[in-house]
Amino acid sequence: MVDKINKKIKEINSFNPKSEKDIEEFRIKYLGKKGELTSLFLDFKNLDNDKKKTVGKLLNELKLLAQSKIDDFKKTFSKKDISQALNDITRPGDPIEIGSRHPISIVKNRIIEIFSEIGFSISEGPEIEDDWHNFSALNLPEHHPARDMQDTFFIEKNPDYLLRTHTSSVQIRHMENNKPPIRTISPGRVYRNEAISSRSHCFFHQIEGLSIDKDVSFADLKQTLEYFTSQLFGKSKIRLRPSYFPFTEPSAEVDVYWGLENETDYRMTKGTGWLEIMGCGMVDPNVLKNCNIDPEIYSGFAFGLGIDRIAMLLHQIDDIRLLSENDIRFLDQFKSSF
Ligand code: PHE
Repeated sequence: MVDKINKKIKEINSFNPKSEKDIEEFRIKYLGKKGELTSLFLDFKNLDNDKKKTVGKLLNELKLLAQSKIDDFKKTFSKKDISQALNDITRPGDPIEIGSRHPISIVKNRIIEIFSEIGFSISEGPEIEDDWHNFSALNLPEHHPARDMQDTFFIEKNPDYLLRTHTSSVQIRHMENNKPPIRTISPGRVYRNEAISSRSHCFFHQIEGLSIDKDVSFADLKQTLEYFTSQLFGKSKIRLRPSYFPFTEPSAEVDVYWGLENETDYRMTKGTGWLEIMGCGMVDPNVLKNCNIDPEIYSGFAFGLGIDRIAMLLHQIDDIRLLSENDIRFLDQFKSSF
């Protein structure tokens, strides 16, 4: 019986199928109900006990060998099938998935559109910024305590350079290179050394605005913001709360009246009906001087808002981390947005 099994092992090892049909025939021949292995196992039962140990082991090897041959050949054939199908040029095309814009881009583009309509240009600047543009020129000299308002990532080898903490730096660059009248918005990514949670991340996106001309007043700022909120949220009732930024004087925090019509409104506004959306103020005369603009002749206003926060408000996203994870299931939901 040992010889018989060894013969079968040889046969199986030399098996070389031409098609999947050959594999199926091979399977039936060896492993089928009435196949070779079944009959060998029947013979095995009648063996003397002392032979059973060696023969049984051999028989099991034979069975495993047959099964692994079948599995291996099946795999190579299915690979062949795929490559044949791929070479078939009459095969129907795969449906093309149309991507969607990222919610940050959707909101950013919308805000740019709103300000473009009232004459604001777009300005951009570097994300690795020097101390002057991010801090000093903005009335935040070295050791000024207000530098702590924005936890900063410094470049280790040269701490004069840092990852910008706001796009106010772009406004300084713009003022250095352009004479008033100036009307510009600066969209871009900014960085802060903050613990990551559902409400804060170490990078996010801002749009800051700047308008400088003769006789620009706080009333101009307020009107511009009312126009903006009515366009973006469909709500124009705003309130300005006194605040502090080193680069503006006076400074204010802007709240928009969202309303209290349903449960979500209550949750979003913590029951007040008001939502804080940005900071703003009249450009501090020192900032104008730093950019060679005469504060005796010119005045201006500035404002800054977080795009991520606005996107979260508009689309009811409750975790800021979703905006940077690029999970297709999340992004897919914005296909129909503007
Ligand atoms: N730069 C401020 C910030 O990032 C926002 C701001 C811009 C406030 C302009 C006032 C005026 O927090």
